[in-house]
Amino acid sequence: TIPTLTMNDGRSIPQIGYGCWQIPEAEAPGLVRQAIGAGYRLIDTAAAYGNEAGVGRGIREAEVPRDQIFLTTKIWNDRQGPDAAGAFEESLSKLGLTYVDLYLIHWPCPQRRLFVETWKAMIRLRDEGKIRSLGVSNFTEEHLAVLVGETGVTPAVNQIELHPYFQRRDGRAADKDRGIVTESWSPLGRGQELKDPTIEAIANSHGKTPAQVILRWHTQIGCIAIPKSANPKRIVENISLFDFELTADELDRIAALDRKDGRIGPDPATFC
Ligand code: A2P
Repeated sequence: TIPTLTMNDGRSIPQIGYGCWQIPEAEAPGLVRQAIGAGYRLIDTAAAYGNEAGVGRGIREAEVPRDQIFLTTKIWNDRQGPDAAGAFEESLSKLGLTYVDLYLIHWPCPQRRLFVETWKAMIRLRDEGKIRSLGVSNFTEEHLAVLVGETGVTPAVNQIELHPYFQRRDGRAADKDRGIVTESWSPLGRGQELKDPTIEAIANSHGKTPAQVILRWHTQIGCIAIPKSANPKRIVENISLFDFELTADELDRIAALDRKDGRIGPDPATFC
């Protein structure tokens, strides 16, 4: 079984999930069913991934009851503001579900100044029972301060780019101070960090793969990781992590891999 974390709203979330970014709509039902069959209970998608219908079908067709699945989706940038509730209803209808477990603001888009209004719409949808937990993605401490200051409602989760070459110590500390769970996107650095010699050496000493070492690291530093794979063998590999543990020395060696220029994705201060 997969360990879970308790969020600040009292609900629990699995520490490993199946990431659906770049999963084509047509392949999504089969891959999601496969992931659930392999033991994944957290499924992460977004309106912007263009596969909500396929992901929802995979969940509905899986041989696991809906209430044992934790489904995350996200509102895209161009739907923030007055239209936020409409965007959510569209996602829900594509998914073919009656609620989502976690709904995230995908990017803060600080220049547009719409995330507070978006958040207020999400709070109403939660009160209506259509969203279980509320969260954000790619928020810095600055954005969190505005969001919480203006609404008094702290996100349960902040999903940010995080991998061994981009470890986000300040971001993780800021989330932790507010009681927010940090979720790592591109946890494997899009696969680039699997060839790192330190990661390879640690993997060899445990008889594990580099991906398993990196994903175990995410869980041991208290984060949630949502690796994407379209390959059945790697889908299983990425969840087979809980029969070994990294030592304090190994965690230190991975901590030393952090780089100033490790970011792969966009900068949330400007991206929209
Ligand atoms: P594939 O879908 O062919 O498995 P991230 O989640 O950090 O964005 O990384 C995703 C990338 O890493 C994808 O290209 C995926 O390719 C690859 N990947 C996922 N799991 C593994 C694994 N266990 N070993 C090697 N590559 C992997």
